[in-house]
Amino acid sequence: MSAYGHFDDASREYVITRPDTPLPWLNYLGQDDFFGLCTNTGGGYTFWRDAKLRRLTRYRYNNVPLDLGGRYLYVRDESGAEPVVWNPGWKPTKTALDSYECRVGLGYTSITGRKDGLQVTQRMFVPPEENTEIWQVRLANVGDRRITGRLFSFVEFAFYEAQNDATNLQRTLSIGEVQVQGSAIYHVTEFRERRDHYTLFACTDEVAGFDTSREAFVGVHEGLHEARVPSAGRATGSIARGWNPIGAHEVVIDLQPGEQRDLAFVLAYVEQPEPKFVEPTAAAPLGVNTSAGRAVLEHYQQPGAVDEAFARLRRYWADRLGAFQGSTPNEHATRMLNTWNQYQCMATFNLSRSASLFETGIGRGMGFRDSNQDLLGFVHMIPERARQRLLDIAATQLSDGTCYHQYQPLTKKGNADVGGDFYDDHLWLVLSTTAYVKETGDASILDEPCAYADVPLADAERPASTLLDHLELSLAYTLAKRGPHGLPLIGHADWNDCLNLNCFSTEPNESFQLAGDVEGSTAESVMIAGLFLGAAGEMERLYDHLGRTEDARRVRAGYDDMLAALESEAWDGEWYTRAFDAAGEPVGSHVNDEGRIYIESQGWAVLGGAGLSNGRARRALDSVAEHLSTDNGIVLQQPAYTRYHLELGEITSYPPGVKENAGIFCHNNSWIHLAHCMLGDGDQAFEYYLSVCPSAKQSQIDTYRLEPYVYAQTIDGKDSPTFGQAKNSWLTGTAAWTFVVLSQGILGIKPSYDGLTIDPCIPTIWDGYEVTRRFRGSTFHITVSNPEHVSTGVQRVRVDGETVDGTTIPVPASPRVVQVDVVLGAG
Ligand code: BGC
Ligand code: NOJ
Repeated sequence: MSAYGHFDDASREYVITRPDTPLPWLNYLGQDDFFGLCTNTGGGYTFWRDAKLRRLTRYRYNNVPLDLGGRYLYVRDESGAEPVVWNPGWKPTKTALDSYECRVGLGYTSITGRKDGLQVTQRMFVPPEENTEIWQVRLANVGDRRITGRLFSFVEFAFYEAQNDATNLQRTLSIGEVQVQGSAIYHVTEFRERRDHYTLFACTDEVAGFDTSREAFVGVHEGLHEARVPSAGRATGSIARGWNPIGAHEVVIDLQPGEQRDLAFVLAYVEQPEPKFVEPTAAAPLGVNTSAGRAVLEHYQQPGAVDEAFARLRRYWADRLGAFQGSTPNEHATRMLNTWNQYQCMATFNLSRSASLFETGIGRGMGFRDSNQDLLGFVHMIPERARQRLLDIAATQLSDGTCYHQYQPLTKKGNADVGGDFYDDHLWLVLSTTAYVKETGDASILDEPCAYADVPLADAERPASTLLDHLELSLAYTLAKRGPHGLPLIGHADWNDCLNLNCFSTEPNESFQLAGDVEGSTAESVMIAGLFLGAAGEMERLYDHLGRTEDARRVRAGYDDMLAALESEAWDGEWYTRAFDAAGEPVGSHVNDEGRIYIESQGWAVLGGAGLSNGRARRALDSVAEHLSTDNGIVLQQPAYTRYHLELGEITSYPPGVKENAGIFCHNNSWIHLAHCMLGDGDQAFEYYLSVCPSAKQSQIDTYRLEPYVYAQTIDGKDSPTFGQAKNSWLTGTAAWTFVVLSQGILGIKPSYDGLTIDPCIPTIWDGYEVTRRFRGSTFHITVSNPEHVSTGVQRVRVDGETVDGTTIPVPASPRVVQVDVVLGAG
């Protein structure tokens, strides 16, 4: 509960109770190809598949005021002495409402505003497998007087390619075209030449008027809050010719006390089959064949069609989330795990880092390392789609082992501007692929033909490569590309994009990552060494599982070699060094005056299995606690950099306490949580987890500021005057990794090759917990009890009432429900 809202766990909703949240709070609509960003005041935009290449409606990022433009309904209440214009979502008029509520749900946002006895609900969602956004609208007269007036809808169309749309005005302001038939407004710009698609915006009810010219509806000198048509009262029937096409409908309101009325608006991306054109008429002089769009509208004009679509959406999410449901003694952990964390993982699956309120949809598409890590959080929900995703990502690896750092979702082609040479990228593919095989048991994916981006499969000269070849190449590449300390070279950067040891940039107009030359550089990354150990360990276990002992032994030899280098060269005395710069000087060492200790190398050394036999793992984590931990999470390094270090790059460009410069980067906090789980410290792991858990931030929401229902990428660190303030919510690797922390690290439900392993590491105060886990077709009901109040150590496991040896539960030959009862303790 906070001043702005509360969780409604039973309905899986967050209920926002006032519109003026500290920052706009976002939700996503859509789950397959058609997506919308939707804020708690209806702000945002829609696109089909690719936020850059198929932007359907317009949004101006970082606007003044923030978050303006979106899916607006204007009410013009004409029943009083003076007409009153208001919006149920408060924006853009910001007319005071008698009540406001925004329910953030799974794939939908429902906003209800009430004023002077008229209550308007606008529920926005995209039905599964459809390219249509629906606004389900209910007008209810909850007062005691007759209400008359008008309802206007409003969206502003985008010219599909978002960068062009925002910048190439000399062209775009001359090309806009629409066609209007009844309540259906078709945005058909460029349809005449090369597009086979248009955007439909229609009302299921009869309309009294429409507008398609922004100038006519809003005005030239007016803002959206003082749009002309809602103020004047009647739509003008404008047909946009060039300039800025919009879609707006006018609907007559006449409601007696107690009366209510339901209608809907549909906003659809429509691919129009041939013929593209029909005989022009006076009403439709462009002659665009709109049959496919009309079919969408006619479907939603049928009674019950909208409700049926919404019910399908509810089933879709119930089914996805049904793969993992639990009940723990901690309400924050339970609700994040059951609902919001998994939901956020699906957003990262769909959008990678492309479109949020912090990513404009025209920059990064899908990130290689990002999408591989994201997979860890969604593979249990959508294994088939995870399979395809893996093959798509792998196909952007090059035959020398490096990878395109990013690719466009629409084309699946690597982004040449950014290129490759981030020397961690390829290793994440090993972690994601092995996670997929452990989840599904489907080792056939390893033999799938999978080309390198620079070697088409059709090339008969070369044998076709498989996904397994990509994994082998990834390990081989890191083993081969090592520097003077025997540690992996870093390239442009490792996971930490801002640690640019080969950049040396003195020129503000270049990219920190891409400036400088990585060829011939000897800068090394200890984090990549740890990550390599993690990946090689996974490969060894995979080969063991496949019965390929020789290969397992070979991979093990590489592991041992890297481990030896890491232990002999990278132990700084109390923690692991972070890197060696291009001059061979240590980074993240006691010899440095700033940036003496970093989080990533502690996390990955331990996760890779370093320091386990010599006490260094524990010592490194103690150093993290001593130097890096705060009540709001663990900062990335200390002391924060106070000046620009040419040899370190972007990390030293941020103010102290912000982002990579000693901010709390929630993503890498998870690695420390997991490292603690490895060492059996359930209390410490869980305490750390709560320090970054958004649900637990409600009591300090005016400091934290972002959505309390999804993780943020960063929280400002202790060196910042705004310590505790979050930034960049939604599209962050934090989602996948915290899900791994909670589900596998703490609750200990781990997919393994031979079955489902139960290996908890919980807070000692917990009496126990329950989990229902769908796994390879069967459903495991797991109860864990903790009578001795330990963190780890399984005393007894019963499967369907029978005591069994070991902690791995085999998968039944035919799918069924399996009851697993676990007792922790020494006995
Ligand atoms: C940010 C990083 C981000 C990178 C992407 C940097 O400015 O600090 O977090 O990964 O840009 O290019
Ligand atoms: C965000 C990027 O998406 C991710 O790839 C990177 O690892 C982190 N920033 C850390 O810099």
